[in-house]
Amino acid sequence: MQRDGHREGYETREHDVLIIGAGGAGLRAAVAAAEHGLSVGIVTKSLLGKAHTVMAEGGIAASVGNVDPDDSWRQHFIDTMRSGKFLNDWKMVETFTKEAPDRVYELEQWGALFNRTPEGKISQRPFGGHTYRRLCHVGDRTGLELIRTMQEKVLATDAKVYMETTVTRLFKKEGRVVGALAYTRENGKFVHFKAKAVVMATGGWGRIFKVTSNSWEGTGDGVVLGYDAGAELVDMEMMQFHPTGMVWPPGVRGLLVTEGVRGEGGLLRNSEGQRYMENYDPEKMELSTRDVVARANYTEVQEGRGSEHGGVYLDITHLGYDGIMKKLPTMYEQFLKLADIDISSEPMEVFPTVHYTMGGIKIDPESAASSVPGLFAAGEVAGGLHGANRLGGNSLSDLLVFGRRAGEGAAAYIEESVHSAEIDEGEVLHEIGRVLEPLEKKEEGESPYLIQQELQEVMMEHANLMRDGDSLKEGLGKILALKDRLPQISVPGSRLFNPGWHTAQDVRYLVQISEIIIRTALERKERRGAQWRLDFDGPDEELGKINFIVTKDGQGEVGIERREIPPMPEHLASLVEEAKAKA
Ligand code: FUM
Repeated sequence: MQRDGHREGYETREHDVLIIGAGGAGLRAAVAAAEHGLSVGIVTKSLLGKAHTVMAEGGIAASVGNVDPDDSWRQHFIDTMRSGKFLNDWKMVETFTKEAPDRVYELEQWGALFNRTPEGKISQRPFGGHTYRRLCHVGDRTGLELIRTMQEKVLATDAKVYMETTVTRLFKKEGRVVGALAYTRENGKFVHFKAKAVVMATGGWGRIFKVTSNSWEGTGDGVVLGYDAGAELVDMEMMQFHPTGMVWPPGVRGLLVTEGVRGEGGLLRNSEGQRYMENYDPEKMELSTRDVVARANYTEVQEGRGSEHGGVYLDITHLGYDGIMKKLPTMYEQFLKLADIDISSEPMEVFPTVHYTMGGIKIDPESAASSVPGLFAAGEVAGGLHGANRLGGNSLSDLLVFGRRAGEGAAAYIEESVHSAEIDEGEVLHEIGRVLEPLEKKEEGESPYLIQQELQEVMMEHANLMRDGDSLKEGLGKILALKDRLPQISVPGSRLFNPGWHTAQDVRYLVQISEIIIRTALERKERRGAQWRLDFDGPDEELGKINFIVTKDGQGEVGIERREIPPMPEHLASLVEEAKAKA
């Protein structure tokens, strides 16, 4: 049941389930919750349909076995665990790999278009680290098609969408999450959302780095909102650098070049014309996992074998114009329009770009519940599934599998017991006061833009894809100095159309996440997947059994716990043993 009201200073909206974020995970959760007849509100700080989901261009991974009939959920399980260097929550991986095919067929039934095999089945392409051709795709616009389909599906429900609305705090009552405070970006009006359950689906935090495939929304709001509410976070040190982002011209540096290019046979070469992947992974070559290919590309440039603009060459010319227009039309247009490069006749220049966050809010594999009652999470903001390195294409199936589970989990939670969403009005007013502080400073203070820029530079310098203890420590010192400056932020102007004010909210999230990432990266003293410590030689056997769990401690500081990964049950352990024996 939805109820609205007005009080001085803010409006009140009431829903059974409040979903924060309108990418694939949020939309899938909304459909699931709405199917239970619940009132659903979806809050997005951006526009409906504009989400990082569209940046998973090359496909959605599911073992439907259309082109390689030997594929199975078991092989998908092994590939995902192996790529994640066994830090993954194996129960999540089992659920995910078993359920991904159903979610793909469901998407097809709901109207999503796919490329087809000659027999008319959904076509599948190879991607790095996947044993079989597993990526169901529509050209290089798969994420966009997923969002388009989910958007239509959501619009057919009674869910109410609040666009351009930024959430600043979750509210709790008796230990349960019961709503949130938000403001509308257009005019700065505050809204108190009351809800029986909240699903966090805000995506990742690539914007803590300067070079990223993420657009402005990727500031990690949800992970900090969850952390502030007491939720456990997991694997926060694990950031994914996608091996191929654009490097030229400077204005588009970091823009994604889909792994679909390598899936369709794209070759990586250095300035000497060498296919250097033979030095890094001679078996899988360009289709090695992302962590390996990203480090290879980085190393080639560092060692002086880079391209004119500081990248490496990625060549897809063998497909010819017609093949490219069929399989990679977006890449063709992207390079022609932005870089004046015709990729059917010349190679692209590419370099790693921050793309994805493996870590996030720790969730229950069945219900997607966080450790705080009433709070659920799905998609990139949730952690655990991907371990130390995500396989390309697993993000789209992740957000459908766990988006649905979060919506179902929230519905089951609500059905189990009724909780009041009433909180003390003082809490709402206090939060409004906090959010308005930067606008109310009389004296000129710190610029949020400058803090954001400095932070991105610190993360590029000290927490990049190769890290070492001394540099991480120096980086932490700089981030803590930025944290000290946050209370002095001031923003001129009013609440109307004020991007400086929005940035003032973002930097609080960016600084907090950066601190957590550096602290956990300091704890993980080894080389494993995306965490590549130059001051250690390789993986550490003991750390291979440990997740770092982060919570806000009693003093409001970052608390880190080493938590042992539970042993796999026999049916999964034997799969892994078999795979090891075959290898
Ligand atoms: O390269 C890509 O198309 C990205 C896919 C993904 O991140 O899953």
